[in-house]
Amino acid sequence: MGCQYFSPCEHGADSFTIAVPKLTFGRGCLKEAGTRAAHRGMNRVALFTDAHLKDGPYVSTVQQSLRDAGLDFDVFSEIRIEPDDTTVINAANFITEGKFDGVVSVGGGSVMDTAKAAMAYALYPADFLDYFPPPIGLGMPIPGALLPHLACPTTSGTGSECTSVSVIRINDLNTKFVLGHPSLLADEALVDPICCDSLPGNVVASTGFDLLSHAIECYTSKAYTRWAKVEDPLKRSYAQGANPWSDLAATRALELAGEFLERGVNDASDSEARDALMWGATLAGMAFGNTGTHLPHAMSYGVTHLMRDITTDGYSVESPFIPHGISVIASAPAIFRYTAAGAPERHLQAAISLGADAWDAGPDDAGEVVAGRIIELMKKTSMPNGIGELGFGPADVSDLAASSVRQLRPIANAPRETNLVDIENIFAASINYW
Ligand SMILES: [Fe+2]
Repeated sequence: MGCQYFSPCEHGADSFTIAVPKLTFGRGCLKEAGTRAAHRGMNRVALFTDAHLKDGPYVSTVQQSLRDAGLDFDVFSEIRIEPDDTTVINAANFITEGKFDGVVSVGGGSVMDTAKAAMAYALYPADFLDYFPPPIGLGMPIPGALLPHLACPTTSGTGSECTSVSVIRINDLNTKFVLGHPSLLADEALVDPICCDSLPGNVVASTGFDLLSHAIECYTSKAYTRWAKVEDPLKRSYAQGANPWSDLAATRALELAGEFLERGVNDASDSEARDALMWGATLAGMAFGNTGTHLPHAMSYGVTHLMRDITTDGYSVESPFIPHGISVIASAPAIFRYTAAGAPERHLQAAISLGADAWDAGPDDAGEVVAGRIIELMKKTSMPNGIGELGFGPADVSDLAASSVRQLRPIANAPRETNLVDIENIFAASINYW
């Protein structure tokens, strides 16, 4: 199956590139931060975190480790969940003024994404949208390397420690867009599952569905051989489509999510499950960081663009707010019902990796089987029943689709051609599931 999916296409890519950071995984590994930062040549560290984590034990462990290694540091913690351009510009100014020679980030995707983007604008100042892709930006490449970066995730979902992307809300447009460039990849990651021990169940659920969707999107994205060949190797996008290496990591991430998501959400003391989800998030990050996402992520940005009057417990953030993983998974079952026709065997295999009982199902059943398994997991972890429970109804479908359709690269990375009307139809089918 794998070989057929990647069979050559006329004018299609014949190579793929894999980029992952040097990575350390294990309970207590945050204590290695100082030694590793010093080994990277850091003397004066910009320590990125958020206001919630700043005075807590993980940042304290990292700070002590930096001190033990003889490193100087200053903390930047003015990072909102779902960072915006203002956050990034302030963080870039902090880097410029502090004369730092390295960055250590400790936090969820918001913190790591801010650190990555801030370095780009601090080192290579530009108009903010210049580095963002069309239609909103110019798609200019980030001109060179950033500072050494040691990324330490404190949630089990985003995978940002393993990816060369940064997701930033553009205030004027009130929508998140993806900044993606190889320079944004951290040099090293320290993934310490201790950080997830005290996470509330609903945060583990949201981040867990983010990891689950990263893995399915990665596995079912368009084959890299169906993207156009690039002449300049430096222009090969990280969003290059599914490839044989990403298949390995995505499949294992799906097995871990299928086996451990419910346990990790519903029992904070189940460290076996929470550690497995942390490893799954890391694997899924390594996977989608080398394929790109597709429709669930593209359409999640329409959902968070147009959300109103909605709050979520467990997050210290102003309303309206929908956690990223929930904005992704709310439409995912309807999306995979649609995309399955473009890669039925892969959707079926994804469902089986996730634990669906589908050994006698055929390709025609693929969309239903994968959607059914996701819905089963959503019910067991008290997820919202579709975008209807996030405050959307049939009258919102065209606005949601018009907002989402601007995410050109992930839409083109889906295994089926998808236009505005298709996206409207999928949103209409996402309003509720049960
Ligand atoms: Fe995500």
